[in-house]
Amino acid sequence: MSSIKVTFIQQDGEEKMVQGIAHSQSLMEAAVAAGVPGILGDCGGACMCATCHVYVPPEWESVVGPPDDVEGATLDLVSDVRQENSRLCCQIAARPELDGLRLTVARKSK
Ligand code: FES
Repeated sequence: MSSIKVTFIQQDGEEKMVQGIAHSQSLMEAAVAAGVPGILGDCGGACMCATCHVYVPPEWESVVGPPDDVEGATLDLVSDVRQENSRLCCQIAARPELDGLRLTVARKSK
């Protein structure tokens, strides 16, 4: 099974590439394991905390896809910083089409 790499970009532009993400592993788990700042994963990936909030760049939106209703409801917890391209990366499972994906770590909710 091939592994993929995803780059997480901070609000200040600093980037961290996470490599060797296994197929079907959540991108939150991969980010936490790699120590990506701002991705906390407090609920363990249960879609309840929104501490894994990212923005998907336009060129990747159709590949990544939109949030489902449950994820959308959790994103309401961070409505002050939610954008059209918001996703919770615990709900994005690694798959080959996502190799090379770039995600921006969301601004902090007040
Ligand atoms: S880790 Fe809690 S919602 Fe993603």
